[in-house]
Amino acid sequence: MLVSAKDMLEKARDGKYAVGQFNINNLEWTKAVLQTAEEMKSPVILGVSEGAGKYMTGYKTVAAMVKAMIEELKITVPVALHLDHGSYDGCYKCIEAGFSSIMFDGSHYPIAENVEKTTELVKVCAEKGLSIEAEVGSIGGEEDGVVGMGECADPDECKQVADLGVTMLAAGIGNIHGKYPENWAGLSFDTLAAIKDKVGDMPLVLHGGTGIPEDQIKKAISLGVAKINVNTECQLSFADGTRKYIEAGKDLEGKGFDPRKLLAPGTEAIKATVKEKMELFGSVGKA
Ligand code: 13P
Repeated sequence: MLVSAKDMLEKARDGKYAVGQFNINNLEWTKAVLQTAEEMKSPVILGVSEGAGKYMTGYKTVAAMVKAMIEELKITVPVALHLDHGSYDGCYKCIEAGFSSIMFDGSHYPIAENVEKTTELVKVCAEKGLSIEAEVGSIGGEEDGVVGMGECADPDECKQVADLGVTMLAAGIGNIHGKYPENWAGLSFDTLAAIKDKVGDMPLVLHGGTGIPEDQIKKAISLGVAKINVNTECQLSFADGTRKYIEAGKDLEGKGFDPRKLLAPGTEAIKATVKEKMELFGSVGKA
């Protein structure tokens, strides 16, 4: 079922676990994440960045593929199709294309403009039954060519944006996208606790899930994080599985060059990573 992320995140917040957002890039990715969610009986959020949306030829293709796949694979767990780090225009395109959830990333606007645009999108999403994520304090690292420095969000600004009626809130707490550098200071739990204190029941979102140590993930969940985004780790797993297949010369054996065979080890590797994350986040059996 394609659903908004609202119910699954409220349940996660109350049950002290987190729902994984796994970014998708193509058919194999989508299939791997959906099948694993079904196998694990876990709710799941499929994340689509603007770059990935473009790569897959547009949001309409993505929405049609995901909806059809849910039906053809008989997926019964709740699935949200979510725009990741959406621009103002991108949000409207995804609403029109049939996504069930959007993130409006207004973190690079001055707070007043972030508030104004978020307010407008909250209203549109409420009318159409979509969930909406907002961001305060930019998440570091590189994503789709946009490099953020990884700041810690101002808890008062978080409260201001949470009060606009968003479904979930992403706040920078020293997390970054991609691999963490050797000298990374770790998540700022003081910031997270101060934000939680201000925003109360609002489910919080942790971006940059790749490479955060398990104890920090668990602590973040205990402090109100109900959604964790993972992208790079599935990409690394896929690349690793594919490389091993080619390095072993398997593509040169028989019909090993058939894309259905060539992409299978990478796809299985994505499944293993998604499974591992669902276990760590505590969402297994919660669908
Ligand atoms: P990673 O690529 O670091 O896992 O981050 C994913 C993310 O936060 C997507 O918004």
